[in-house]
Amino acid sequence: MDFKEQLKKYQEIVNIELDKYLTKQECPEKVLNQAIEYSLISTAKRLRPILILQSYKIFREDYEECLPFAVAMEMVHTFSLIHDDLPGIDNDDYRRGRLTNHKKYNEATAILAGDSLLNHAYMIIANEVAQANNCEEAKRKMQVLNEFADAINKMIIGEYLDTECQGTQISKDELDNIHNNKTGAFFIYCVRAGAILAGASEEEINKLTIYGEKIGLAFQVKDDILSATGDAKIMGKPVGRDEEMNKATYVTKFGVDKSRELLENITNEAVEALNDYKEKAEFLRELAIYIKERNK
Ligand code: IPE
Ligand code: IPE
Ligand code: MG
Ligand code: MG
Repeated sequence: MDFKEQLKKYQEIVNIELDKYLTKQECPEKVLNQAIEYSLISTAKRLRPILILQSYKIFREDYEECLPFAVAMEMVHTFSLIHDDLPGIDNDDYRRGRLTNHKKYNEATAILAGDSLLNHAYMIIANEVAQANNCEEAKRKMQVLNEFADAINKMIIGEYLDTECQGTQISKDELDNIHNNKTGAFFIYCVRAGAILAGASEEEINKLTIYGEKIGLAFQVKDDILSATGDAKIMGKPVGRDEEMNKATYVTKFGVDKSRELLENITNEAVEALNDYKEKAEFLRELAIYIKERNK
């Protein structure tokens, strides 16, 4: 199976799993549940949950063990996007080719749909900790829970700095700090979570962390490039919004060509970080290239 087919296969696995967590019955809060489903069940790429599964697969084959963590991650990612699109943050009308959650429903519903997704994600992981079969497993899952909370905290800080820095000149270090927080922290968490759950050693977890750092930054740099040069139809979100909003991005700071060059370097560093894993890390290697070359 080539990379594209594998990616599709794992996207499907995540989609099927997500569907199991939806509440579809009649109840007074039915519209809230519909708003959650609207954003969760979509054409999303599912890269973060897939990273958890693939990082786990370097060490163990029974990746089904970490599906609840994959679902929790995608829920929190979805929460972050619903809130990112709100009028008070990026004020965007389209996401994944459809109206954003607050445009389809209303602001109150979108805020609460996001809150609910965040809470559900914690409930899923807490349940995993409670169900652990032994002390060692409970310890691993607790560590993942801690790192999950830390990554979410970083995302929130990144989102805050991103809005605070609109219209200001910032240094490359400050820009990297925003990107590493708002986007990188989730990628780092995902590769670490997969490895921790699989029982990898500290040394192995740290090696994968470097890969996570690189692809996290690469992902946001590519998002900056696509936001300026991409095809809105393919991406399902508008082009040119970063400039309109006076966002601090790689493209507004360095221009498109230089950003592409920096992206190339970061991607090479990500691939290098996997050198010790040989064919076991083939999917992750290809994923780094995919992140650089993607058009959505
Ligand atoms: C978009 O993430 C938000 C950023 C961190 C740039 P994705 O491009 O992974 O979004 P979906 O889930 O595939 O739509
Ligand atoms: C979104 O960043 C990152 C998070 C929600 C954490 P952006 O605002 O740059 O991403 P898009 O372009 O809206 O997807
Ligand atoms: Mg934003
Ligand atoms: Mg945005």
